[in-house]
Amino acid sequence: MYDSYDYLEQIAEARKSCRRFSDEPVSDEDILRILKIASRSPFASGRKNWKILVIQEKDKIEALARIIQEASGKLTSSMEEDAAALFRKYARNFTFFKEAPILMIPYCRNTSTMQAMLREQLTEEIAVWERDNLTKSLSCVSMMILLAAESLGLGSCCMTGPLLAAEEIATFTGIPSGSILGAIIPVGHKLHAHED
Ligand SMILES: Cc1cc2nc3c(=O)[nH]c(=O)nc-3n(C[C@H](O)[C@H](O)[C@H](O)COP(=O)(O)O)c2cc1C
Repeated sequence: MYDSYDYLEQIAEARKSCRRFSDEPVSDEDILRILKIASRSPFASGRKNWKILVIQEKDKIEALARIIQEASGKLTSSMEEDAAALFRKYARNFTFFKEAPILMIPYCRNTSTMQAMLREQLTEEIAVWERDNLTKSLSCVSMMILLAAESLGLGSCCMTGPLLAAEEIATFTGIPSGSILGAIIPVGHKLHAHED
């Protein structure tokens, strides 16, 4: 009777953020399996307007990492050296995805139905609440991706650090300008310490 719970418990327990990946590619079948599970994600206000961009080209993945490195470099250029050193250390965890064979990026258009419904009654708070709902929907999608990857024995990591360069990422990847990006999620075969 509890078979499903037991499976889910195993998957949830096994899932840990994976930051090292082997060179083994992720098969198209596995990519489709992950996307199929993610497509079952719940979404706020009946607005299933999100998509998942899958990036499989190594040169594109490396270029994205450079874009994020540049953006965090720009941030530190006007900072005091001690604060900059601290941030640089923190930002190391923004670009390790360059080792991963694929990236999944859930995103959605930032359109407002509240504006159409409420018109002049729309307040800044309601606009933020509506945008937050879209971000929360994208978080649900991300979680589905992480669990689906783990169920296939693949490693993954939900990353929002890189989104400090969200606009540049969107421009580079062709995601429509002004979209909300949920996360960058590297997915790949886990590299265990003894396999180095
Ligand atoms: C919203 C969100 C953003 C995150 N962003 C990053 C990130 O930019 N870089 C990173 O290395 N890990 C990131 N993580 C992973 C967390 O560091 C990780 O989930 C946490 O330390 C718990 O470890 P676990 O995932 O292995 O259980 C993020 C996690 C979440 C939920």
